[in-house]
Amino acid sequence: MATDIHSKPFDEGTQIKLQIVRDYLKEWLPVFIMKKVPTWKKLFIYDFFAGEGSDTVGNYGSPLIILDEIRKYCNAIQEKEMLVKIVLNEYSEKKTERLKKSCADYIDTCRASLKHDSLSCKEDGNCVFHLVFENQDFQDFFGSIYSTMQNLSDYPRFIFLDQYGVRHVTKEVFNKLLALVRTDFIFFISSSYVHRFVENPEFQKYIDLERKDFDGKNLYQCHRVLFDYYKSLSELNHTKIYLAPFSIKKGKNVYGLIFGSHHKLGIEKFLKVCWSQNPQTGDANFDIDNQKINSSEPKLFPDQDVPRKVEMFENELQRKIYMKELKTNIDVYDFTFDFGMLPSHANKVIRNLISKGKVAEGVKLSSSNIHKLEETSL
Ligand SMILES: C[S@@+](CC[C@H](N)C(=O)[O-])C[C@H]1O[C@@H](n2cnc3c(N)ncnc32)[C@H](O)[C@@H]1O
Repeated sequence: MATDIHSKPFDEGTQIKLQIVRDYLKEWLPVFIMKKVPTWKKLFIYDFFAGEGSDTVGNYGSPLIILDEIRKYCNAIQEKEMLVKIVLNEYSEKKTERLKKSCADYIDTCRASLKHDSLSCKEDGNCVFHLVFENQDFQDFFGSIYSTMQNLSDYPRFIFLDQYGVRHVTKEVFNKLLALVRTDFIFFISSSYVHRFVENPEFQKYIDLERKDFDGKNLYQCHRVLFDYYKSLSELNHTKIYLAPFSIKKGKNVYGLIFGSHHKLGIEKFLKVCWSQNPQTGDANFDIDNQKINSSEPKLFPDQDVPRKVEMFENELQRKIYMKELKTNIDVYDFTFDFGMLPSHANKVIRNLISKGKVAEGVKLSSSNIHKLEETSL
């Protein structure tokens, strides 16, 4: 049985996981709320394994992080008459009660600290927090609301699945997530458990991998194998979705997040968050390729300080351009996101190829908002 994450202070790995969720919400919320004229008046946030609100020393868990980020847009949400609905599900009855209390306390403190009486947030009806608490097993709950979620397909959604272990994001659940349009999701998975128990038939019920799938990867890279597995499911499903992993090491174990979005802006923003956590590979909170690069103590030969992932990307991007597998700037950025890299990484290669006369000078480059970029030939 998993140890209760809320019975002690969150460890470093948990804090990083929650920081990534917070940073992504910081990017996601303003896209919809800060539009001059909002395209969608309703947003939905689902935290399906919500926990009890905080750890034993008051560090915020995901539900309070969600409230904390939404709170910043309180005025804008009211002025634009938007609705941000937050669905918090937790299986344990005891935790659900604690969660309700944590959220109520948070909202009371929020009301007491806000001075803008003009927005009359002191009255329940006007508070921007529209919370729905559920106390169900995830599979039952997700199964029961899934058709409603599909019917609400017009509205942007963010889903966080912070399961213990590996049991909940099965092939069926993952395919259901893929089918939800305008939805970004992040889920957590205990990847080293899969690595350790992959031959156990109990595990194979949830994750369809074999020992040979881990060949050539060490334990610390096991989350990349899990990522490839989910990516292959999306390809089998013929769904165009942008996916990215982030590996988290806690002691000897490796866990990880998997992010998915149907929109290019979603992946761009998630990768930005990841690269700010780790400027060397952007996909782990540790030295995942065991390169021991220390930017304050450069090695004798500068190329030894180029992360392997960056080097592989640069070589592969150049090769694909030479082979005409990538023909436009948009092809380049799609490949870049697929590799888990940022537009700035690609721009460095393209500028170099422009200077050698291998790519047209007029090609349009950008380091952000790639979804708005005009398509030009290389
Ligand atoms: C890793 S914790 C989530 C922590 C939470 N995100 C936070 O930041 O505090 C997983 C939570 O899922 C709950 N849980 C376990 N099995 C569940 C199930 N079948 N359905 C829903 N919740 C479940 C646990 O009680 C626990 O609170």
